[in-house]
Formats: sequence, C-alpha cells, structure tokens
Amino acid sequence: MSKNYLKYTMSYDYEQRLAKYDIKGSLAHSLMLSKQQIISTEEMRKIHEGLNQVLNEIENDTFKWNPELEDIHMNIEFRLTEIIGNIGSKLHTGRSRNDQISLIMRMYVKDLNIDTIYKLINLIKCLIKLSEKHFSFILPGYTHLQRAQPILLSHHLLAYAEMFLRDIDRFNDAFLRADFMPLGTGALAGLPYDLDRGFVAKELGFKNITSNSIDTVSDRDFLLDYSYASSVAMMHISRLSEEIVLWSSDEFGFSKLSKDFTTWSSIMPQKRNPDFAELARGKTGRVYGDLFRLFTILKGLPLAYNRDMQEDKEGFFDIADTINFTLDIFTDMLDTITFNKENMYKAVEESYVLATDIADYLVDKSIPFRNAHKIVSEMTDFCLNNNKFFHELTLLEYKQFSDKFEKDILDIDPAFSINKRNTIGGTSETQVRLNISNIKSRLKLIEKNIS
Ligand code: ARG
Repeated sequence: MSKNYLKYTMSYDYEQRLAKYDIKGSLAHSLMLSKQQIISTEEMRKIHEGLNQVLNEIENDTFKWNPELEDIHMNIEFRLTEIIGNIGSKLHTGRSRNDQISLIMRMYVKDLNIDTIYKLINLIKCLIKLSEKHFSFILPGYTHLQRAQPILLSHHLLAYAEMFLRDIDRFNDAFLRADFMPLGTGALAGLPYDLDRGFVAKELGFKNITSNSIDTVSDRDFLLDYSYASSVAMMHISRLSEEIVLWSSDEFGFSKLSKDFTTWSSIMPQKRNPDFAELARGKTGRVYGDLFRLFTILKGLPLAYNRDMQEDKEGFFDIADTINFTLDIFTDMLDTITFNKENMYKAVEESYVLATDIADYLVDKSIPFRNAHKIVSEMTDFCLNNNKFFHELTLLEYKQFSDKFEKDILDIDPAFSINKRNTIGGTSETQVRLNISNIKSRLKLIEKNIS
C-alpha cells in the first residue's frame, strides 16, 4: 500500500496506550490455548517469554513501531515472531483482531472507570473539607440568579458533592457493563476450537463473559457509557466553574482563587482571570463533542464489525484525558480557593432574602400563606420605594402591614431562617452536619467496594 494510503488506515500511533493490555490479553489467551492443548506448554512458555520482552521494549521506549503493520496488534505479533521465531505465529490461533480490540478496550475502560472514580472521591473529599472549614459562612441562595433565601455555604458546596456522588454511581455502572470478557468470539461467529472462555475471563479479572458473538464484536456501548458518565460529570464541573467565575468577580466578591489558578491579562494589569474554571467550562463542550462523535460513528453500522469502529479511539481517549486532567486540576484549584465571609453576609443583609421567613411568621399567626405572601410583597415594595431593607424597619412600620407582627419579628435574622429549615436535606446547621456525615459514610462504602 502506498505510504499515503497507509496513513489513512493505520492506528498504531494513537493506540499505544492499549499496548500493555494487548500483551496481557495475549498472555492469558496463550495460557488458555496450552491448557486446552491447542498449543504445547513449551510453545506457550516461548510465547510468554517473547511477549514479556516486547512489553519491556515498549515500556522502555525501545520498541520500533512499524507503520506498515498498521495497528498495535500486528506490530506486537510481528516483533514476537522476530524474537521467538515462527512459534509466535501460533498466538493468533482461535482469535481475531475483532475480539482482540474489544478485549483490550474493555480492559482499558475498566481501569479508566476506577481511575476516574478515585479522582471524583478526591474532589468530594475536598468539598467536604471546604464545607467543614467554612461551616459558619452564610450567603444568599439564588433562584433565577436573584437572591432568594439565606443558606449555608457548606450546603451549597455539598450540593456539588451529591452530583459527584451520582457521577461515581454512573462510572461504577459503566465499569459493570464493561466487565464482560469478549475473547472467544473470533471475527463474529465464534470459533471452531475448544476454547475455555471462562478461564481467560478469570485470568484477566473479568466477572462475566459475553453471550452473543455477533453482538460482542459490534458493541461499543461500554465506551458510550464512560463517555456519557464523563459528559454528565463535566457538566457538573462546568456549573461549579460558572459559579466560581461569578463569585470571583468584583460584582460578587465571594471567593478568590489562588495565584496558581488565575492568569494575567497581557494588556490590563489589574486582571486576575479565572482561566482554569473557564477552561473546565469550555472543555465540557469538547467532551460532549467527542460523545456525539462516537454516537455518530456507531449509528448506521450493520452487524457485525466494521472498520468505522476504529474511529472510536481518538475521541474516546480525548474524553478520558480531558475529564481526568480536569478533575485533578479542579480539585487542586478548589483546595486553595478562599471565601469572603463578609461579602457573602453583606449580600444577604442587602437583600430581601428573609421575605419568605416573614411570610412564614404570619402563617404561624394563622394568616393563610397566600395572604401572608401578599402582605410581605407589599412590604417589599414599600422598602424598595423607601430604600430600606427589612431589618431597618421598626415594629411600628411592620404593624402598618399587619397587626399580627409582634416584637419577636425583629429576631428574624439569616441564622434564624437557616436553622428553621430543618427538613431532611434542608440548610439548617443540623441537617448540613448530618449531610456531611452521610456523605462521609457513602464515600467509605465506595472506597471499600472499589478496593
Ligand atoms: N484497529 C482496529 C480497530 O480499532 C482493530 C480491529 C481490526 N479488525 C479488522 N478486521 N481490520 O477497530
């Protein structure tokens, strides 16, 4: 094939991260072949020796990749026969590159899911640390990006911990679905040898074996599962990034990023830009794009294997690298963020976030909620017109809106409002402390199950 044409079909260059899995798979396959007396023990030993040498060369970067051999499978097998002679050609007995690529992608994806779960665990631990450290910080909670009700900063941060815990569930699920050993399928229809698929599965740490050979070589759902889980996790990171960008602005002034995580403007000397958060937000689009690239590659394929499927890799690797790098950077960035307690509290005080509490006060004095809502709405208009906040009103002024107001209305403050919201999952100190310990136990369980 002409060099130019070859460039179009070859994949050995971007597949190299799969090489060690290819060799591990071949070690298990050849062991099974000898156990089943399809090759001799001596042949298996030679193959193992040769494969270990190839692995060594790859790990030490002395392996000479030959583009003409197209992919990593052929490169490894060719080098094996160079080292041990023609016995190396027996390795591919009872195997096709179609089940081989499925095997090594599954092995890679299983490891990847675990890696990403560990990174998410670190991120959640960082959020817990921030929540505990800033437990007394109060800020306005927002709806429609309008100040709505006072909340604990910890409660806000732990909302993200919940999202990342759900992400762990999704990656765990993706792991379970990748955990099916495909070897023994051959090109598509199964193989005419007495292969022990269960043995290979055990050797390679797979819990199950696949059940339909045609589906096995056609299936890339396990890549989609990881890609989708990554897309959702990136969306969560992106939402947090957006808040960090907002909170770091002069308009909010709620948080400050450490110097390592801001960059300068080349023209405006005063700037400390939150580029890392912005890039994380931007890279989310990149991961979505890769997910849709994969969907699009797969959508029209007839059964079984089609070469289109080779195009699954670069986008998928990009997803893996992007999310894992982002999770590391993001955790480091959060680890060094500081929060401005005064500015947050000021935003609570210079707002009408206690309006619901005042309405609830009236409900407590047997005014129906709708009427109470109307009264406090009128009070808000009055305050807005007179440039006042609720806490600047006198009892006399309160009474002009309802004679149910008593002296204790003046006791309603942000801390009161927060601690009143004591329903399970609410923002009261009690509930948030419970939530922290609950998240800690969930993490412990995840860590126990993963190891
Ligand atoms: N490089 C191929 C891929 O990624 C490996 C399988 C090749 N199979 C084939 N029949 N050419 O899909």
